Amino acid sequence: MKISVFGLGYVGSVCAACLADRGHTVIGVDSAASKVDLIRSGRAPIVEPEIGALIQRAVASGRLTATLDSAYAVAHTEMSIVCVGTPSQPNGSLSLAAIEAVSREIGKEIGRKRTRHEVVIRSTVVPGTTREFIIPRLAESSGKKPGDGFGLTFNPEFLREGSSIGDFLNPSKTVVGGIDQVSIAAVMSLYTDLPGAKISTSIEVAEMVKYVDNSWHALKVVFGNEIGVLANALNINSHDVMNIFFEDKRLNISTAYLRPGFAFGGSCLPKDLRALAHLARNKDLNLPVLNHIIDSNKMLVDRGVDWVLRQSKKRIAILGISFKSGTDDMRESPFVELVERLIGKGCEIRIYDPNVQLARLVGSNKEFLTRVIPHIADLMVPNISDAVEWAEAIVVSTNNPVYMAGLLAARSDQVILDFANLKPPDAIPAKTLAFLW
Ligand SMILES: NC(=O)c1ccc[n+]([C@@H]2O[C@H](COP(=O)([O-])OP(=O)(O)OC[C@H]3O[C@@H](n4cnc5c(N)ncnc54)[C@H](O)[C@@H]3O)[C@@H](O)[C@H]2O)c1
Repeated sequence: MKISVFGLGYVGSVCAACLADRGHTVIGVDSAASKVDLIRSGRAPIVEPEIGALIQRAVASGRLTATLDSAYAVAHTEMSIVCVGTPSQPNGSLSLAAIEAVSREIGKEIGRKRTRHEVVIRSTVVPGTTREFIIPRLAESSGKKPGDGFGLTFNPEFLREGSSIGDFLNPSKTVVGGIDQVSIAAVMSLYTDLPGAKISTSIEVAEMVKYVDNSWHALKVVFGNEIGVLANALNINSHDVMNIFFEDKRLNISTAYLRPGFAFGGSCLPKDLRALAHLARNKDLNLPVLNHIIDSNKMLVDRGVDWVLRQSKKRIAILGISFKSGTDDMRESPFVELVERLIGKGCEIRIYDPNVQLARLVGSNKEFLTRVIPHIADLMVPNISDAVEWAEAIVVSTNNPVYMAGLLAARSDQVILDFANLKPPDAIPAKTLAFLW
């Protein structure tokens, strides 16, 4: 394919060199004459392993050229890949100046073309930017409609400086969000023989995936470092600790606990985080991430309470009061907190939880229910129908098949508040609302 690459920095140089090496005809475009001159002379404008040889070979073969002239580049190619910088501004927002300039330059030339031109955004932009900022500028400057005169995709770049050529050729995943299948297929065709998952999605999901990856990587670094600081203060070898942590591929290094949902609770996580924060305070350590995990969890409970109250329903059935399904443990259950706050706001509550039947409870759970939260015990009903038939709104807290069966009896005048991502079937007449999804 004939491809123009806008921006010859880290991302653009690697992209241009690798695509040319893979047989495409590539025109690199940059507003900096020094970068264009370097490419023209067969030299890399960035320092990166392997890129020098790649660019030298691609330029010598005639498959890679460079220009300052964006109109020429668009006119002589079928696809433009935008890799210009999107640096931070003092308030944290992105500067879109370079994106705006190239969108208008590319759009202007698209206006003169008789054939459809594919525009691919690889620069990192916050979700919504491609549709709300880039497409209108391309449409205005070209006088053409997206999907008609031009195609548009967002194809996030996941390379790491220092290993960028290897990352380009051996991606974990290729993600393309587009306005239509024609645009997506054009971009995917560049990567067909590369390894990794190939994922077609919406533009906004593709934009957000890049931020989720980077914030997750940053969080991992910070988490590991805070553990290091704490371990060091306790004269414990943090590497020994983390090596053991890495061994658990089921709960630690895995997808476990990462799906958006409701707050955590139970007898361990809140207690242990409080103890760790106390230990750090005693050692005069500042561990902002570990210390704020509990705050973030409280925010989720606040959102849950607000969400239920916003429905303006007085009689609320709660299906599931333990902190997760399959247990009778209510200690620090976020649903106990939810119920207490709803009672405080004047709601009437009935609770059904097959794991929390008073007659069957033993030990600390019975003691907790009857002594610490007797007001909750009084609200428990023995049958799911006692709660569902009576309620105006039904809160489903955890994923238990019994709840789904009970919801089949819900009426069209009731609303189901799905905290557990159960997604009751559409055939249920009650209106189902999802908490976060
Ligand atoms: N560097 C990375 O590791 C990396 C990885 C993934 C994504 N990204 C994202 O990719 C984008 C580019 O990053 P980078 O590190 O390659 O940036 P960079 O600053 O190295 O390169 C940007 C290039 O764009 C050129 N440019 C600016 N305005 C232009 C215009 N109007 N016309 C033509 N060229 C223009 C600049 O001269 C520069 O050569 C950013 O949005 C960045 O967040 C970077």
